[in-house]
Amino acid sequence: MEGAGVRLRRAFGFGNTQETDPFLLLDDFRNDNPADYLAGFPWHPHRGIETITYVLAGSVDHGDSLGNSGVISSGDVQWMTAGSGIIHQEMPKGREDGLNWGFQLWANLPRSHKMMEPRYRDITGAQIPVVRPDDGVKIGVVCGNVGGVEGPARDIVIDPQYLDVSLSANKEFTHAVPVGHTVFAYVIEGGGFFDRDKRVVVRPESLVVYGDGDEVTFAAGDDAVRFLLVSGRPLGEPVVWGGPIVMNTREELQLAFEEYQNGTFLKHHRK
Ligand code: CO
Repeated sequence: MEGAGVRLRRAFGFGNTQETDPFLLLDDFRNDNPADYLAGFPWHPHRGIETITYVLAGSVDHGDSLGNSGVISSGDVQWMTAGSGIIHQEMPKGREDGLNWGFQLWANLPRSHKMMEPRYRDITGAQIPVVRPDDGVKIGVVCGNVGGVEGPARDIVIDPQYLDVSLSANKEFTHAVPVGHTVFAYVIEGGGFFDRDKRVVVRPESLVVYGDGDEVTFAAGDDAVRFLLVSGRPLGEPVVWGGPIVMNTREELQLAFEEYQNGTFLKHHRK
């Protein structure tokens, strides 16, 4: 249970960040009962991180204390760099049958960029290129490069990839990833194999964290499979995490909460 009472599934993000560095948390919010999400995430601060929200069904109304606002609709991604700080609210809305579904990923910022100017990338579903590198392989490229097609989220500090991958039944595909980067898959629909020997069928709400290498291979089982494939450059820095604020030291975290209390939290005031 998060925010003012939103039920969600947390794939990772329980404090041990080493295995997923530079990623801190992945929430899967999938609810068809509005009572489980309408209270939303009222006003709260963020500093030191990026939040990446991908909506599959329904929408999320977003507004910040500087007057920026918008709606993240089905198929859209909001790549928000909190940097030095934003104070915002995020309010889920269901579609007609009540379903609200999407993902929020938190990416850490390195020490050198924790206090950078906040930035929004509002990416509509129509702006996300869909690449079909082979029969039965469909990849929505939010961020990164697939077969020379670059996603719309660019110039991001941790050099990430964020792909929405669909494979038809029994299809296998290999995708290049940068050596040394953290790579994970989160299954959304169907079932597939993420190990070369195809020993384990991985189904929705399961997370696969790959070992190091220069490519990843995945295959659908007898059903089609759909999953998020995400990678990023690990930071290898100390992580001091206090709710929606993630810094390098206890002093920085304490200062952030003091500033939030005394009204000096926002460092960049440009709308
Ligand atoms: Co937030």
